[in-house]
Amino acid sequence: MKRLTVPKIRARKADGVTQEPLVMLTAYTARQAQLLDPHCDLLLVGDSLGQVIYGLPSTIPVTMEMMGNHAAAVVRGSYHSVVVVDMPFGSYEASPELAFESAARLLKESGAAAVKLEGGEAMAETVAFLVKRGIPVMGHVGLTPQAVNVLGGYGARGRSDAEAEKIVGDAKALDEAGAFAIVVEGVIEPIAIAVTQAVSCPTIGIGASPKCDGQVLVTDDMLGMFERVPRFVKKYEDVATTISETAARYAAEVRDRSFPGPDQLYQPK
Ligand code: KIV
Ligand code: NA
Repeated sequence: MKRLTVPKIRARKADGVTQEPLVMLTAYTARQAQLLDPHCDLLLVGDSLGQVIYGLPSTIPVTMEMMGNHAAAVVRGSYHSVVVVDMPFGSYEASPELAFESAARLLKESGAAAVKLEGGEAMAETVAFLVKRGIPVMGHVGLTPQAVNVLGGYGARGRSDAEAEKIVGDAKALDEAGAFAIVVEGVIEPIAIAVTQAVSCPTIGIGASPKCDGQVLVTDDMLGMFERVPRFVKKYEDVATTISETAARYAAEVRDRSFPGPDQLYQPK
């Protein structure tokens, strides 16, 4: 199977319609990427790795080094999906030039195909700057976690008319700037639908609407690795319990000396 390309992803929405929704999941490690890759169109090396992998309180402290290293692992572990890397907080907002330098570094270090950055109208000039210089950009509007200190939390967006209008305007600005897709996160459903209808590129929803052109979830949330997850997460499995119960069985066998058993031992010939 040949790797999908950004133009192929973009072309899945033609004349405002997407026949088959785009499937995206986050991936942070090579093995995780191997397992997810055959089922996805896009793998996102999300800056959610700050919380998921590093136990950080938000995505704000995530560094370029973290993103570059995990993106390289995900590219090594995949051969089908388009790999998109989140630009970490502070690596792109100040200017289009800073954004280009950071994005180029992430793609050169990892071999990923595209970057994702948060923000709407304020980032449109930067998106156009990158796209014109060979870097495909995925946008991200609505609940943008890197802005948690401005937004004041992770609640759903778009409940007031002014906020709803701003979200649609943000998405339009990114679309016109040349973003190949836009993540729509944590917005009331009518606004997710309005955004999807307002832009020519595919929207990828999370806490948004099944009418978006695709969906994304944080893989570890979907697997049930965490107790507390946002409303928009569906826990498809309870991997946390599996890991915990497996560790308990191992610990019991070590303590009663039934592990290692005959099958696991080397004996003289
Ligand atoms: O960092 C991340 O995982 C994301 C997705 C939730 C869209 O940005
Ligand atoms: Na992110």
